[in-house]
Amino acid sequence: MESSNCAASRSMRSNSAPAFLLVLLCLLLQSPSALAGSVKPSYIVYLGGHPRRAGVSPAEASLSATESHYDLLGAVLGDREKAREAIFYSYTTSINGFAASMEPAEAAEIAKYPGVLSVFPNRGRKLQTTRSWQFMGMERNSGEVPRWSAWDVGRYGEDTIIANLDSGVWPESRSFDEGEMGPIPDDWKGICQNEHDRKFQCNSKLIGARYFNKGYAAASPAPLDTALMTPRDENGHGTHTLATAGGAAVRGASAFGYGAGTARGGSPRARVAAYRVCFRPINGSECFDADVLAGFEAAIRDGVHVISASVGGDAFDYLEDAVAIGSLHAVKARITVVCSASNSGPDPGTVTNVAPWILTVAASSMDREFTAYAVFNHTRVEGRSLSERWLHGKGFYPIINAADAALPGTKPSDAQVCLMGSLDPAKVKGSIVVCVRGAIPRVEKGEAVRHAGGAGMIVINDEVSGNDLHADQHIVPAVHISYAEGQKLLAYINTTK
Ligand SMILES: *[C@@H]1O[C@H](CO)[C@@H](O)[C@H](O)[C@H]1NC(C)=O
Ligand SMILES: *[C@@H]1O[C@H](CO)[C@@H](O)[C@H](O)[C@H]1NC(C)=O
Repeated sequence: MESSNCAASRSMRSNSAPAFLLVLLCLLLQSPSALAGSVKPSYIVYLGGHPRRAGVSPAEASLSATESHYDLLGAVLGDREKAREAIFYSYTTSINGFAASMEPAEAAEIAKYPGVLSVFPNRGRKLQTTRSWQFMGMERNSGEVPRWSAWDVGRYGEDTIIANLDSGVWPESRSFDEGEMGPIPDDWKGICQNEHDRKFQCNSKLIGARYFNKGYAAASPAPLDTALMTPRDENGHGTHTLATAGGAAVRGASAFGYGAGTARGGSPRARVAAYRVCFRPINGSECFDADVLAGFEAAIRDGVHVISASVGGDAFDYLEDAVAIGSLHAVKARITVVCSASNSGPDPGTVTNVAPWILTVAASSMDREFTAYAVFNHTRVEGRSLSERWLHGKGFYPIINAADAALPGTKPSDAQVCLMGSLDPAKVKGSIVVCVRGAIPRVEKGEAVRHAGGAGMIVINDEVSGNDLHADQHIVPAVHISYAEGQKLLAYINTTK
């Protein structure tokens, strides 16, 4: 082992300046915590739209819709008071329906009532991601905006209000600085809901923020803390998607020095509003349908022009799909709804948000790579990395296959994929550790290596992942290389043992 050496260095291959960057915040969802205790199921009862009645004020109409929801559920439960307690959302302005805790038999019963279009579980959805403009030809590499660019034609989104249904927003992000934005339009009806987080402030760029957590609370075995009672983004996804849609230009943005340039949204002059409907994962899902519907209702009522939602789940019948229902009512109110197609595939049936009235946007690969190198046996192998720190090119380090560095009593198969606590610090200290992809998120392997005192890491693909490489923000200097190059590296390590 001592005789074999390796170095990892990095360099970046970027476009000619100025490069534009959208910081991709990689959501690495923790494995769902084991849930103890039982949670009463909750359902959404969908009744379509509201009957139009002349001479009735919106407030009266909303009140009478709520009363009719109590009547309907009361008839099934045999008690109007119980119905009142069970219902945690009444959708009374655009969408007609309610969300309530009830037993499956009661849900089946209510589905038989006249006027009930569908009854479906308050299901969880996953957060999803999107990307960048220069690549799409909105502007040239020189920064010049061609006359035919959608930016020019659309005046950079001026006079448009974009709502985002997501994990909320980090209001201090410079993407939401108000800059030269004029006063907020008079007909804006949104609010800045900050009763539990007084530091959360809106401005004339970020003109509204709300949160909807009752559907989440209904699915959560634990009571909610105040971090779940604010539109403040806890994980970065909502800040990323909202800035991607409507963030102002921020100069000098970079990810650890990679991709330095100006970060900006697709409609940098638009106003934005955050509707937080996603929280910490429960069973791997962060966004619950009852909250998604409540977010759509509020955005429609507040007077937004575009709703962006990067959340998705398995495709269900439209009548059982909160995004399909919410967006239908939004489109009826002349709001454009833009959703993500998901991050899964390429396999049949992996696209989400497929209702034809939604503008569903797919991801694509990009024309930019974050290149890093591993050097061994007099050859340089190209890989990917976004590590904050790197091993300087000239220094060589001992290298060890993680499978040969298992802590006594630990399975070599666990060590091979660098599970936390599987590596023996006595063997790993000061070395570059070779970890095979799989079993846990790639960045967690870096944590395990650092925990054991390793100097750096090379993540090698397994046969299935082949040439699929990712630039990750590892906490140790690291590079990710292909299966083929990984096999050469392991062969080299074997000959030098
Ligand atoms: C979590 O998943 C398990 C297994 O699928 C299920 O039994 C349980 O009801 C789920 N819990 C919640 C809160 O959805
Ligand atoms: C190391 O490099 C030499 C020269 O390119 C090559 O012949 C040899 O097979 C390599 N060793 C291993 C173990 O790959």
